Amino acid sequence: MAKNTLTVTDNRTGKQYEIPIEEGGAIRAVRLRDIKTGPDDFGLMSYDPAFTNTASCRSKVTYIDGEKGILRYRGYPIEELAEHSNYLEVAYLVVKGELPNEQHFRAWEENIKTHTMVHENLKAFMQGFRYDAHPMGMLVGTIGAMSTFYPDAKEIMNLESRRLQTRRLIGKLPTLAAWAYRHTRGLPYVYPDNELSYTGNFLSMLFKMTELRYKPNPTLERALDILFILHADHEQNCSTNAMRSVGSSQVDAYSAVAAATAALYGPLHGGANEAVIRMLAEIGSVKRVPEFIKSVKAGERKMMGFGHRVYKSYDPRAKIVKRLAYEVFEVTGRNPLIDISLELEKIGLEDDYFVSHRLYPNVDFYTGIIYQAMGFPMTMFPVLFAIPRTSGWMAQWAEMVRDPEQKIARPRQIYIGENIRQWTPIEKRPAPTMREDAVSDQI
Ligand code: CMC
Repeated sequence: MAKNTLTVTDNRTGKQYEIPIEEGGAIRAVRLRDIKTGPDDFGLMSYDPAFTNTASCRSKVTYIDGEKGILRYRGYPIEELAEHSNYLEVAYLVVKGELPNEQHFRAWEENIKTHTMVHENLKAFMQGFRYDAHPMGMLVGTIGAMSTFYPDAKEIMNLESRRLQTRRLIGKLPTLAAWAYRHTRGLPYVYPDNELSYTGNFLSMLFKMTELRYKPNPTLERALDILFILHADHEQNCSTNAMRSVGSSQVDAYSAVAAATAALYGPLHGGANEAVIRMLAEIGSVKRVPEFIKSVKAGERKMMGFGHRVYKSYDPRAKIVKRLAYEVFEVTGRNPLIDISLELEKIGLEDDYFVSHRLYPNVDFYTGIIYQAMGFPMTMFPVLFAIPRTSGWMAQWAEMVRDPEQKIARPRQIYIGENIRQWTPIEKRPAPTMREDAVSDQI
């Protein structure tokens, strides 16, 4: 009868090892340590820069099948959630594991809205940023600063404390995000209006001017809510890995979310939609698309918004976003950059380079175009990603904290540096030209 094990022969010693294959088709990397040439040998390790084939956790939050283009939160297909749900309900689902009933939803909504206000000193903290500070930098700093306002968050093993920090973070993120935007515009910060929906209130804090009450456009409010649903979680991506890794030191959730937000800031992650708009603006017109594609194929450029570590067919979120773009344009007018995107996508889906590399549009290919049409500056794009991803980060963090198998994250390395050397006084060290060569690749 077939056994669920892997038999490995170490050709250095001729010894055989039987390693169990566990749930999800994984072997425990630590079992490789048994494979040794002798008692002094450390044993084998697996080498996996960027974790391309290493599972770091067992998770119940999000399921992705990258080959088939499937994304589900807690078992629910993203298409159904985007069609029928709202972001706060999805945040509940992601964080708690089940869709809420009517009563639970009302309580959850109330709990989140209770936490939309922030301490006045946080406002003063934000006002301290330079007039041209990037709102994502402001967000990273301010979320980190929140850790000093809520010292009770250190009690990470306390369920009630974890729940409270989760509500606070989900409730306050739109306020901090909107204020970061108002700051860059030199506009007064707008306080939350809890009569509005989660996204409606966010739009109010962003765009309210002198009117007594801001009335969000329902199409834009719903579009933003759908975009929030699409961004709520995405299993072990760079920022979630940062959340888990930093959180594994048992630091408070604000510090870990600040780290996750910093990870999201990068152009290969949450900054990709900003990079897409810059790319489209640089291409400038449909007729310059072939020239651009040529430079991508020559390896000179990347096509931003294309490719994904996990999706090797169309990103299901990108399909929804593309449709949404046209609904938003009904209100805002058409963003002319869409024509360049459509042409890039058309070529990308047919061209041998993109097909053979399995590069398809990802969620960021069209989100920037929508955000721009809605009046957001590019610097706000990653901020718009961070707001909904907070629910995913908190769900993943809570899972990590409760997982008895998890410990402080600490990868191994393969040391490739110098062997032992003897320190020499400064006057006896080699001439600078030689030393320059030696240190030139260090930074
Ligand atoms: N344009 C051109 N070539 C690409 C692209 C691209 N966008 N992405 C990957 N490739 C090529 C890459 O050059 C490499 O080619 P070769 O094997 O010939 O050297 C091959 O495809 C594999 O790429 P990789 O960089 O090893 O793949 P990865 O899994 O490490 O990277 C990625 C995934 C998303 C970082 C990458 O596709 C990329 O940089 N895309 C553009 C940035 C982007 O759109 N990021 C948003 C990701 S989705 C939102 C999120 O989840 O954060």
